[in-house]
Amino acid sequence: MALFTQLFILYFYFISSVVSQVSEFISIDCGSTSNYTDPSTELSWSSDMDMMKHGTQVTVENQNGNSMQHRTRRDFPSDDKKYCYSLSTKERRRYLVRATFQYGSPGNVDAYPKFELYLDATEWATVTIQDGSRTYVNEMIIRAPSYSIHVCLCCATTGFPFISTLELRPSNLSMYATDFEDDFFLNVAARVNFGALTKDIVRYPDDPYDRFWESDLNRRQNFLVGAAPGTERIKTSKNIDIGTREYPPVKVMQTAVVGTEGELSYRLNLKGFPANARAYAYFAEIEDLAPNETRKFRLREPYIPDYSNAVVNIAENANGSYTLYEPSYMNVSLDFVLSFTLSKVNDSTRGPLLNAIEISKYQQIAAKTDSRDVTALDAIRYMATESVWANEGGDPCVPSPWTWVNCTSTPPPRITKIARSGQNLKGQIPSEINHMEGLIELWLDSNSLTGPLPDMSSLINLKIVHLENNRLNGSLPSYLGRLPNLQALYIQNNSICGEIPAALLSKKIVFNYEGNPGLRNEAQRKLRFKLILGASIGVLAVLLILFLASLILLSNFRRRMSPRKRDENARGGHLLDEGVAYCISLSDLEEATNNFTKNIGKGSFGSVYYGKMKDGKEVAVKTMSDSSSHLNKQFVTEVALLSRIHHRNLVPLIGYCEEAHQRLLVYEYMHNGTLRDHIHGSVNQKLLDWLTRLRIAEDAAKGLEYLHTGCNPSIIHRDVKTSNILLDINMRAKVSDFGLSRQAEEDLTMYQVWHVEHSVTSIPSIMQVNN
Ligand SMILES: *[C@@H]1O[C@H](CO)[C@@H](O)[C@H](O)[C@H]1NC(C)=O
Ligand SMILES: *[C@@H]1O[C@H](CO)[C@@H](O)[C@H](O)[C@H]1NC(C)=O
Ligand SMILES: *[C@@H]1O[C@H](CO)[C@@H](O)[C@H](O)[C@H]1NC(C)=O
Ligand SMILES: *[C@@H]1O[C@H](CO)[C@@H](O)[C@H](O)[C@H]1NC(C)=O
Ligand SMILES: *[C@@H]1O[C@H](CO)[C@@H](O)[C@H](O)[C@H]1NC(C)=O
Ligand SMILES: *[C@@H]1O[C@H](CO)[C@@H](O)[C@H](O)[C@H]1NC(C)=O
Ligand SMILES: *[C@@H]1O[C@H](CO)[C@@H](O)[C@H](O)[C@H]1NC(C)=O
Ligand SMILES: *[C@@H]1O[C@H](CO)[C@@H](O)[C@H](O)[C@H]1NC(C)=O
Ligand SMILES: *[C@@H]1O[C@H](CO)[C@@H](O)[C@H](O)[C@H]1NC(C)=O
Repeated sequence: MALFTQLFILYFYFISSVVSQVSEFISIDCGSTSNYTDPSTELSWSSDMDMMKHGTQVTVENQNGNSMQHRTRRDFPSDDKKYCYSLSTKERRRYLVRATFQYGSPGNVDAYPKFELYLDATEWATVTIQDGSRTYVNEMIIRAPSYSIHVCLCCATTGFPFISTLELRPSNLSMYATDFEDDFFLNVAARVNFGALTKDIVRYPDDPYDRFWESDLNRRQNFLVGAAPGTERIKTSKNIDIGTREYPPVKVMQTAVVGTEGELSYRLNLKGFPANARAYAYFAEIEDLAPNETRKFRLREPYIPDYSNAVVNIAENANGSYTLYEPSYMNVSLDFVLSFTLSKVNDSTRGPLLNAIEISKYQQIAAKTDSRDVTALDAIRYMATESVWANEGGDPCVPSPWTWVNCTSTPPPRITKIARSGQNLKGQIPSEINHMEGLIELWLDSNSLTGPLPDMSSLINLKIVHLENNRLNGSLPSYLGRLPNLQALYIQNNSICGEIPAALLSKKIVFNYEGNPGLRNEAQRKLRFKLILGASIGVLAVLLILFLASLILLSNFRRRMSPRKRDENARGGHLLDEGVAYCISLSDLEEATNNFTKNIGKGSFGSVYYGKMKDGKEVAVKTMSDSSSHLNKQFVTEVALLSRIHHRNLVPLIGYCEEAHQRLLVYEYMHNGTLRDHIHGSVNQKLLDWLTRLRIAEDAAKGLEYLHTGCNPSIIHRDVKTSNILLDINMRAKVSDFGLSRQAEEDLTMYQVWHVEHSVTSIPSIMQVNN
C-alpha cells in the first residue's frame, strides 16, 4: 500500500512537472484562424490573429498529409518593412526558439521566397525555399536578454516573407549553458538522431523540451552522405540513463548506428559555416557486450586534431551500458562541410557506435537600439496605440528602421530622426525624449500636443525641431539658445508665452514663432535700441574723428603761425568714454517717477522730476514737453555729449528715453539740489560755510576745466549758472544741463572761449555771497 502511494506520488509528480514545463510552451500556428490542440502531440496551438496585425492568412495548397500546423501560413508584403512577432520571456532564462516554414506546392512557382529571419537585432537565417513541400526549420538557443524577444521577417529578395509556426520552449536551468552566452546565441545547425526508426522527427512528448531531432533516414543533398560500408542500425527498448547535462530524449538514445567494419563516417553541410561552434556527441552502449568484448574508438576529424587522440570507451566513460556519455566541444572551429570518421582502435572487438550529434553555431548577438531611445519611442507610440505605425514591432532600427524614424548605422543604433507630423498625437511631449542624445531632427508638428516644451537640454546634436501647429504652452526654455547644433526651430501656432531667449534670435538659427500671442520679443526690442544707439554713436565717432582730424590740421597750421605753445596732450584726449547711457523704456520711467508726480525743478527745456528706479537708484528725470526741432537738437546734443563724458564734477547721465514723442533724460539724483537754492535760500537751507563754498567753486571749476581740456574736441557749456551747479549728498558740486553746449570752435583758444562764451556773472555770484 505504502509502495503504491509512493508510486502514485511519483507518477503524479512526473505528470505535474511535465505539465508545468508544457504550460510554459508558446506555440503559434501562423495564419491559423482558430486555437486547437494537436492530437499527435497534445500541444495547444494558438492562432496568431491577435498578435499579428500585418500580412494575410493563407491556406497552404497541395500539402500532403502534413502536420496540422502547416495547413496555413501567414504571408507578409514584400516591402522595406519588417514584420515582427513579440514573445514574452523571463530575463536570463534559456529558451529554444523555433520558426518553421512550409510554403506548399501550388503547381508552378516562378520563384520560391527568399527572405531574412531576425531574432531581435541578430541575424538568424536567410530562409531560402527550394522545395515547397519541405518544412524548413530554424532553431536558436538563447538566454533571454529581457522580458520579451522579437522574431522578425523582412527583406525578401525573391517572393515575399512568410511563416508557418513560431515556438518558444524553455530549457531546464543549466541546459545549453556556454561560456559565451553574454555575447552569443546558439544557432542550431544540426541535431541528428542516428539509427532512427522512421523519417519523422522526434519531438515532444518524446523530448520533454521539444527539440527537433532529425532522422538520419531523411535523405537530402549533402546531408549525411558518404556513410562507411558496414554501417548498421541498432536499437533497444531498454531504458537509458540520460542524466547528463543536455537530457537528450531516451527515444533518440535507444537507437544508434554501428560501424561493423570498424569505421563510421559521414559528411554533411553546416548552414552558415565556417564558424565557431558548440558541438555535442551522444554515446550510449545499447548492445549487450560479452565480458571479453570491448568497444573502443577514436574520432578522426582533420580540423580538430587535438581531439583525435582521445579514445572513447563508452561503457567506461559512461560507467556502464545503457548509460549516456556526452562528450562535447565548448568551442570548435568547423568548416562548411563537416566530414567526420569514428574508427575503432586495434584492441577493440566492436566497431564504433553513435546515437546522436548536435552542432550549433555561435551567433554574435547584435546590438539593439539604445534602450533609452526605445523607452522614448515607446512613450510616443503610447500616444497612438491604435495606429498601425505605433504597432510596428521589433527593434526600432534593425534590421530595417520603423517607417517614422531614422537611425545611425554604427552599432549600437541610435535614433537620429523622429518624423511624426500630423498624426493627431495628444498629450504632452514625453520627457524621455531628453535621453535621445543622437537625435538630430524632431518632427512633431500639426498634432494636438499640449503642455510645456519638455527638457531637451541634453540633445546636443539636435538640428531641426518642428513643433508648429500644436497646443503647446508654457515658456521657451533658455537652454534652446544653447543647443550647439540647433539650426531651425519652428513653434508657430501654439500657446507658448513669455520672453524669447535672446540666443534664439541670433541669425544662425531659423526661428519661426508667429501665432503665439503670449510670446514677447524683449531681446529684439533691446537689440533694436542698442543698434540705433550703436549706430548713432558710430556716426558720432566718425564725425568726431573727422572733426579731430581737422582740428589737428588747424592747430598744426596755427603753431606754425604763432609761437604760443599749447599743451595738447595735457589731459589726454577722450574720443569715446567707456560708459554709454542706455535707453530706458517710458513705462519704466513712469513707474520710477510715479507718473511724473514729484517735480524737483526746471531744466533748460522742461521740468525735472524725482524718480526711483527698480534697482533702488534715485534719479532726476528731465522732460521735454514740446518736440520742436530746436529742443530736439538740444536733446540730441546732450545725449551725444553726455554719453561720452564722465567726470566727478559733471552730473552723470544714466539713460534716456525716446518714445511716443516723449524725450526724457535720466540723471543721477543730486540730493542737495542746486547751488542757487542754497545761495538764495529758496529752500530753508543751512548757510554754506566758507570752506564748503570754496570746495563748490573748485568742483565746478574742475568740471568746466574737464570740459575744456579733458575732452577732445573741447566742450563749451555756454550756460553756467548757479542753478546748473548741483550738490550731491556730500555737498560736492557737479555741473549739469548741457543742452546749450557747443563744441569748441577750432581757432579760438580756451582763454578766448571763456571770455566770449561764458556768462561771466555766474561764477562771481558765488563770491558775491561770500562777501
Ligand atoms: C487563442 O488563445 C489565446 C491564448 O493562448 C487567446 O488570447 C486568443 O483569444 C485565442 N483565440 C481564439 C480565436 O480563440
Ligand atoms: C532540471 O535540471 C536539474 C539539475 O540541474 C535536474 O535535477 C532536474 O531533474 C531537471 N528537470 C527536468 C524536468 O529534467
Ligand atoms: C572560440 O575560439 C576562438 C579561437 O580560439 C575565439 O576567437 C572565440 O572568441 C571563441 N569563442 C567563440 C564564441 O567563438
Ligand atoms: C568471447 O567469449 C566467447 C565465449 O564466452 C567466445 O565465444 C567468443 O569468441 C569470444 N570473443 C572474442 C572476440 O574473443
Ligand atoms: C561507476 O559505478 C559504480 C557502481 O555502479 C561505482 O562504484 C563507481 O564509483 C562508478 N565509477 C565512476 C568513475 O563513477
Ligand atoms: C593497428 O593496426 C594498424 C594496421 O591495421 C597498424 O598500422 C597500427 O600500428 C596498429 N596499432 C596498434 C597500436 O597496434
Ligand atoms: C531616413 O533616411 C533615408 C535616407 O537618408 C530617407 O530616404 C528616409 O526617408 C528617412 N526616413 C525618415 C523617416 O525620414
Ligand atoms: C498648459 O495647458 C494645460 C492643459 O493643456 C494646463 O493644464 C496648464 O495649466 C497650462 N499651463 C500654462 C502655463 O498655461
Ligand atoms: C498657423 O495658423 C494659420 C491660421 O490657421 C495658418 O494660416 C498658418 O499657415 C499656420 N502656420 C503654419 C506654419 O502652419
